[in-house]
Amino acid sequence: MRAVTVIPGVPGSLRLLDDYPDPANEEGPILVEAISVGVCGTDIEIIEGQYGEAPPGSDHLVLGHESLGRVLEDPTGTLQPGDLVAGIVRHPDPLPCPNCAVDEWDMCRNGMFTEHGIKALPGFARERWRLQPGFAVGLDPALTEVGMLLEPTSVVAKAWDHIDRIGRRTEWQPRNALITGAGPIGLLAALLASQRGLSVHVLDLATEGPKPALAGALGAAYHSGPLDQLDFEPDVIIECTGAPVVVLEAMCKVGPTGIVCLAGVSSGGRIIDFDAGALNRTLVLENNVVFGSVNANRRHWNGAAEALSKADPAWLGALVTRRVPLSEYAAAYSPGPQDIKVVLDFTA
Ligand code: BGC
Repeated sequence: MRAVTVIPGVPGSLRLLDDYPDPANEEGPILVEAISVGVCGTDIEIIEGQYGEAPPGSDHLVLGHESLGRVLEDPTGTLQPGDLVAGIVRHPDPLPCPNCAVDEWDMCRNGMFTEHGIKALPGFARERWRLQPGFAVGLDPALTEVGMLLEPTSVVAKAWDHIDRIGRRTEWQPRNALITGAGPIGLLAALLASQRGLSVHVLDLATEGPKPALAGALGAAYHSGPLDQLDFEPDVIIECTGAPVVVLEAMCKVGPTGIVCLAGVSSGGRIIDFDAGALNRTLVLENNVVFGSVNANRRHWNGAAEALSKADPAWLGALVTRRVPLSEYAAAYSPGPQDIKVVLDFTA
């Protein structure tokens, strides 16, 4: 069968293999036919050779962690043939650490977790894959066109879950949220903020293209100027750019008792002249919290599936700015400036 692969650590090794083996039974009893796979920055880093790990005993890593497929067979009866399904990305470490032991693999403490399409497990950019029942998430049948957004939505569902948990340290009544970066993660974070009834603000450099209208359709205010000049104090900031200056300004800007969730990943290497003492002062005197958030566990995947089924399908569809047939796979991994989410289509 066909599969999109790389040799981790080797830039330029991206290939569409025609003769990749069918998924082994050991991968799980649920056999799935791929519909589509979303592409994200992590895939690009893996293709550039900066990230990623092949499964033990193999040189090749199948890409793809934002999955959507249709169940072909499920002898466990968890799902029915024809059901839409996505695969949970991360599997717990084998030790397991205290968090993986209670299925909180998103909080793995020893780094020995594995991730489909990223770290030591084959990804979902192949025509067929298999899942264990505990790692299969069924989706609303109405999400055939956009269900590959479940994985990035699970990431922001986790971010919001942890914001809530941190907020509960006090009487927590957030009124507004600022999302920095209007890429897929930022816009999905804004969607979840609007579903919570918050007054939502989205900040991004783009003044053209689909981003301002997508934010507007959620009822969010859209800003493209500097963060430190916003005329309000955010209760919550979800930072999705990973841009060092934005990260620092977010920490300074958040209001008293406010929470900053860092969800964007910087590439590192940029040195900034910055008054760390002033930051310390504001964080302490305002009881602020800054925390990082990555990945998602089963609870977040289920919450994300619910959030997507409540969202406007047309709005979700507009996040997908390009669908690339599998035969032209390489084009999916060169995002254009107007792209939000590019999707590799296995049905074309
Ligand atoms: C994925 C996460 C994963 C992280 C680190 C992200 O792109 O969405 O599920 O944990 O990369 O590998």
